[in-house]
Amino acid sequence: MESKDTMVGTYNRAGEVKAFGEMKIGVKGLVDTGITQIPRIFHHPQVFLANPKPSSTVRIPIINLGGGMFESKVMRETVIAKVRVAVEKFGFFQVINHGIPVDVMEKMKDGIREFHEQDSEVKKTFYSRDITKKVKYNTNFDLYSSQAANWRDTLTTVMAPDVPKADDLPNICGEIMLEYTKRMMKLGELIFELLSEALGLKSNHLKEMDCAKSLSLLSHYYPPCPEPDRTFGISSHTDISFITILLQDHIGGLQILHDGYWIDVPPNPEALILNLGDLLQLITNDQFVSVDHRVLANRGEEPRISIASFFMHTIPNEQVYGPIKELLSEENPPKYRDTTTTEMATHYLARGLDGTSPLLHFKI
Ligand code: OGA
Ligand code: NI
Repeated sequence: MESKDTMVGTYNRAGEVKAFGEMKIGVKGLVDTGITQIPRIFHHPQVFLANPKPSSTVRIPIINLGGGMFESKVMRETVIAKVRVAVEKFGFFQVINHGIPVDVMEKMKDGIREFHEQDSEVKKTFYSRDITKKVKYNTNFDLYSSQAANWRDTLTTVMAPDVPKADDLPNICGEIMLEYTKRMMKLGELIFELLSEALGLKSNHLKEMDCAKSLSLLSHYYPPCPEPDRTFGISSHTDISFITILLQDHIGGLQILHDGYWIDVPPNPEALILNLGDLLQLITNDQFVSVDHRVLANRGEEPRISIASFFMHTIPNEQVYGPIKELLSEENPPKYRDTTTTEMATHYLARGLDGTSPLLHFKI
């Protein structure tokens, strides 16, 4: 007999989730069968779908990084001031002239699309939910812990500090992933310098804490959804990372929570989107915050591709992080206890994306 808590309404949710997971075909595989209604394991409660209301007027700032080479100290200071305002006001901003050529970004999106669109028998060889595995494909990392599944499949690859060999990565996109990573690591270093200075610390501070050292790529595929008003591409969440740098294609659907409204982050082929994660909020003792965001289910005819570069350590990792001492004072005592990426990730995974901040668990 099924235990009571796996029964939702009149159906055995746990059983249907397991059956879907074990098919290893992802959401893309479901769409390919020609379904016109989405399975109920993807249904989100109406209240989450409807609230809060979207706002069409506010936009996150766009910051020009000038290729990362600042001609003068004044220029650098100006950019740092813009970064500080953007992160304190929105927790998100877009960057242009960030040093990653548009053709590399285009090839990266193409490579990821090709990965997800290849024969499902090939994809199945990468299918795994093992958190220690460095190259894996699956659907909904939190499939077994969330209340409702999302309309998205993901290829997750650990790219740094140990750079994988091309042979360890999927054939179809391995080379471009390595090229993209090389450039992303450089951009990450620059961003952590700017963020350190925006905090009033010396420019190497966050790098010396190893925030820029480790990178995982979450390469998402959001297939067209036959009932986009019943589910999400990714439901409201904060990122666990120090920072995330997102490449999105032309489809749209990303929204961030700002002053109680969802605001759209419109596609821009030249821009990358930057947001702060929970680990950075924890070490900055809430000076910089990790903001809720989500992706609406894809209502178009084409798939949506996005690649999220998560700067965070590979699990398992026992390096200890707590609020940065230089930022603390009698008026600003530590709000969080020390923790590790492993402890945070384990907590994150166990609860799924449930819309509450996983940081509450680490509050003093
Ligand atoms: C994420 C995320 C947004 C997107 O991977 O954490 O928020 O547009 N992705 O795919
Ligand atoms: Ni996210």
